[in-house]
Amino acid sequence: MTERLRVENLYKVFSKSPDPALRMLAAGAKKSEVLAKTGMVVGLNDVSLSVPSGAIYMVMGLSGSGKSTLARCINRLNEPSAGRILLDGRDIVAAGEAELRDIRRKRISMVFQHFALLPNRTVAENTEFGLKLQGVSPQARRRRAEEVLSIVGLARWGNHYPHELSGGMRQRVGLARALATDADVLIMDEAFSALDPLIRTEMQDELLRLQRTLKKTILFITHDFQEALKLGTRIAIMADGELVREGTPQSIVLEPGSDYVAAFTREVDRSRLFDARWAMTPVQPVPLAAGLCLAETADGGGLVLDDGGHVVGALDADTLRGLRDTAGLGTGGLGTLRKEFVTVRECDSLLDAARAHRAGRPMAVVDEDGRLTGTLAADRILAGIASAPPHPAGGLHA
Ligand SMILES: Nc1ncnc2c1ncn2[C@@H]1O[C@H](COP(=O)(O)OP(=O)(O)O)[C@@H](O)[C@H]1O
Ligand SMILES: [Mg+2]
Repeated sequence: MTERLRVENLYKVFSKSPDPALRMLAAGAKKSEVLAKTGMVVGLNDVSLSVPSGAIYMVMGLSGSGKSTLARCINRLNEPSAGRILLDGRDIVAAGEAELRDIRRKRISMVFQHFALLPNRTVAENTEFGLKLQGVSPQARRRRAEEVLSIVGLARWGNHYPHELSGGMRQRVGLARALATDADVLIMDEAFSALDPLIRTEMQDELLRLQRTLKKTILFITHDFQEALKLGTRIAIMADGELVREGTPQSIVLEPGSDYVAAFTREVDRSRLFDARWAMTPVQPVPLAAGLCLAETADGGGLVLDDGGHVVGALDADTLRGLRDTAGLGTGGLGTLRKEFVTVRECDSLLDAARAHRAGRPMAVVDEDGRLTGTLAADRILAGIASAPPHPAGGLHA
């Protein structure tokens, strides 16, 4: 994936003359030491990260860890004290007034926790606000507003006022407004944090659904680790202005790397976080006869595939051994094919795999086209749920 946004050695010290603090930080001092010695508050301490195009990149951390400061530095609502922020390779920190205005209007949109809707403007007027700033004509911006309102499920609400909407609906307006300008980077700062749990879950699902078609690059800020796991392509975890851990949700749960991060991972439901692909044993089918192939399973049996890689039947261990002994692996022996096997998709969770499991039946893991890519034995499912990596070296991209 190409990189859309890159943060390099970013520092933010809340002071007009941050140099003494920056020197301390460069020498390895922590936020608390800098505060004690200089009285200056450190917002960011040497943060570097890379956001791939099309990712939902989660920035997670406790309150005060610097998440909003990072978000605000990226569109320069906060002025970075040192470091670079590259948007498609161009340094935002070095951008002049005009370029900055352009970036804020067209390239990066913000969605805030508290909606920030204008109370005496209608939903449609709020939605088209950014377009108005861009100088888009009234008809064109109304058309666009209606378009994005219908994307977020608010068609026909355009003429209502914010106070007539529920919290969830207001946040949808916030999202619609961010989408209206067609910026390819969205920064969502605790955008769902103020919502009731049910509405919040609904908005998370909605965002995932929208993102499948929108394919924006989203920097999503949250203090909720579950939300980070659910939405994130990657997660960056912050503490005291520093980035302390970065990786895929799965890799962070498996290897937190510190007690601070481990504390977040303790309550995680691993059966939903890890999928069949992650826990499966990849297959290496060997030719059988008559265009068929055999993929062995861990119990000594095998799955029989047609020439398209689709499973057509299963052989138990005894039958397979018998066929081998009598060299009967040709078409003749295939009369003994059992049909009883279970199929799960690579993207199915281990919870789904556990539910699909049937004693004595091999489990086939198939790709989007239904082709066999692996097998999944019960002990692998369990090991995966308990988060003992089933394949020490494989399948996991930190
Ligand atoms: N404008 C400001 N002036 C001084 N200190 C600030 C300012 N904004 C944020 N901070 C401080 O910077 C640190 C990070 O804050 P923030 O980025 O808002 O954290 P988060 O969003 O993770 O809760 C905190 O210690 C906070 O008090
Ligand atoms: Mg914040």
